[in-house]
Amino acid sequence: MTTATDTANLARTEAVTLLGKQVCARIDHWRSKFPDGPQGQRSAIIQALFTVQESGTGWLSTAQMDAVASYLDVPPVWVYEVATFYSMLETAAVGKHKISICTNISCMLRGAQDTVAYVEKKLGIKLGETTADGRITLKIEEECVAACIGAPVMIVDGHYHEHLTPERIDVILAGLSEPTEHAGPGKQD
Ligand code: FES
Repeated sequence: MTTATDTANLARTEAVTLLGKQVCARIDHWRSKFPDGPQGQRSAIIQALFTVQESGTGWLSTAQMDAVASYLDVPPVWVYEVATFYSMLETAAVGKHKISICTNISCMLRGAQDTVAYVEKKLGIKLGETTADGRITLKIEEECVAACIGAPVMIVDGHYHEHLTPERIDVILAGLSEPTEHAGPGKQD
């Protein structure tokens, strides 16, 4: 007779196959930072998802999210909730580079709408779209990214760019002609 434990073990084995041993080792690293039990498993979800995303195509498929749920032994809905809440996690295909322009109050008062219009025109796409060559995704409007003192602000591949002007934007976009490694959240210049 197949028990619930057998089923969970089988699902975990399949998750390792799908995610890869190296990614699972990284997930284990983050899992070890939280207490035993379901809440500790839940706390590891965000870093597990970020690890999977950054080690793969830059976005999370449903199969990958399900594998994370199986590997951490949590309900899939817990994983979906995290993946769809945080703007640094992608649940649909994106370009090699991701640009988010903050349009919240401080940035709005410092011309964020003009920044959006300028970037849209330069790239030939609207917010939420990806360039035809798959190079750049202009993400839908971003809420405050906690860099109001540098408004207007945009984040490119996890890297903050502040005090934006058309000239600065030109330089930043010109630097995206080649793929870069994902910088991760929180870096600034
Ligand atoms: S409103 Fe744009 S960083 Fe705060």
